[in-house]
Amino acid sequence: MKVLITGGAGFIGSHLAEALLDKGHSVRIIDNLSTGHIDNIKHLEKNPQFEFIYDSILNYKMIERAFDEVRFVFHLAASVGVKYILENQVDSIITNIRGTEIVLDLASKRQCGVMFASTSEIYGRNDTGTLAEESNRIMGATTVHRWSYATSKALDEYMALAFHRERAVPLRIVRFFNVCGPRQTGRYGMVVPRFVKSALANDPITVHGDGKQVRSFTHVKDAVAAVMMVFENKKAEGGIYNIGSENVISIWELAVKIKELLKSKSEIKFVSYHDVYPEGFEDMKRRVPDITKIKRELGFEAQHTMDQIIEDIARHIRGNKDEKAEN
Ligand SMILES: NC(=O)c1ccc[n+]([C@@H]2O[C@H](COP(=O)([O-])OP(=O)(O)OC[C@H]3O[C@@H](n4cnc5c(N)ncnc54)[C@H](O)[C@@H]3O)[C@@H](O)[C@H]2O)c1
Repeated sequence: MKVLITGGAGFIGSHLAEALLDKGHSVRIIDNLSTGHIDNIKHLEKNPQFEFIYDSILNYKMIERAFDEVRFVFHLAASVGVKYILENQVDSIITNIRGTEIVLDLASKRQCGVMFASTSEIYGRNDTGTLAEESNRIMGATTVHRWSYATSKALDEYMALAFHRERAVPLRIVRFFNVCGPRQTGRYGMVVPRFVKSALANDPITVHGDGKQVRSFTHVKDAVAAVMMVFENKKAEGGIYNIGSENVISIWELAVKIKELLKSKSEIKFVSYHDVYPEGFEDMKRRVPDITKIKRELGFEAQHTMDQIIEDIARHIRGNKDEKAEN
């Protein structure tokens, strides 16, 4: 099957492209390389089943062409990362809202299946227990720009569900919870690669806030395996699935684990959110997924431990001198 991955030169998209090619699909990617990188897909370019279009999903004419012969689109292109969103406020909202509208509109005209990449952020400030697909969303004030990402992704979900119900677009929604692994960059505020980079350089590992925030981290290979299950199962159509793992850890414990595992001499330092983010920044104490639905319905089980995630990221950074120099 010919598939399109928007944002396919990004971290998750490039791993997904590999998995789809491995299964014999033809993969076309459209990406403007705003946070993605050509190095993520360079190794795929020799494959005759692979095609890369360097453009924005906001360029209607180009994306219209990108849909030619495509039967399924994985819509991953988005402005991501807390830091990136804060530094590119207008463009981020436009990419996440108008971009999704364009993709859904074309999918409905071509009767093409869609998987929308949503996020655990849409649960907002709900930091109780584990978060299931039907859990409440609790949003902060509109003056706290952080919530614009969550709100744009939630609106995208509403839009996707509406296209599914009214215009018969075959739809699947996945909500990623902190996916990490090789090729993820720490530049936009992603915590695990940022800590690993600091640890490898014996630079201070800076923990934002008191470090008691609890999260769970999922290896990108597990996330992609889950995406493939959702893609391949007809019964997943119309469904929303949390994709995450039950590796629960506080940010302080994560810093200690990374330091010990990588035998680093880094000092672990605490910095207040105010020193890193604009006034009024908010973070959740706890964000952990309930993955009962994807386990029960599709048989998903994360295979990688936190240690393996850290080791794989460290191996990637050690082997990638360019990225080290850049950061
Ligand atoms: N990594 C995670 O933990 C995580 C968590 C929740 C949700 N997600 C979602 O998964 C998707 C992929 O995220 P990622 O972590 O791989 O981030 P990423 O930044 O590596 O990937 C996003 C890709 O979209 C591309 N892009 C952005 N704007 C574009 C535009 N206008 N036109 C074309 N391409 C554009 C970027 O260049 C990048 O390659 C995103 O939709 C994100 O919201 C990721």
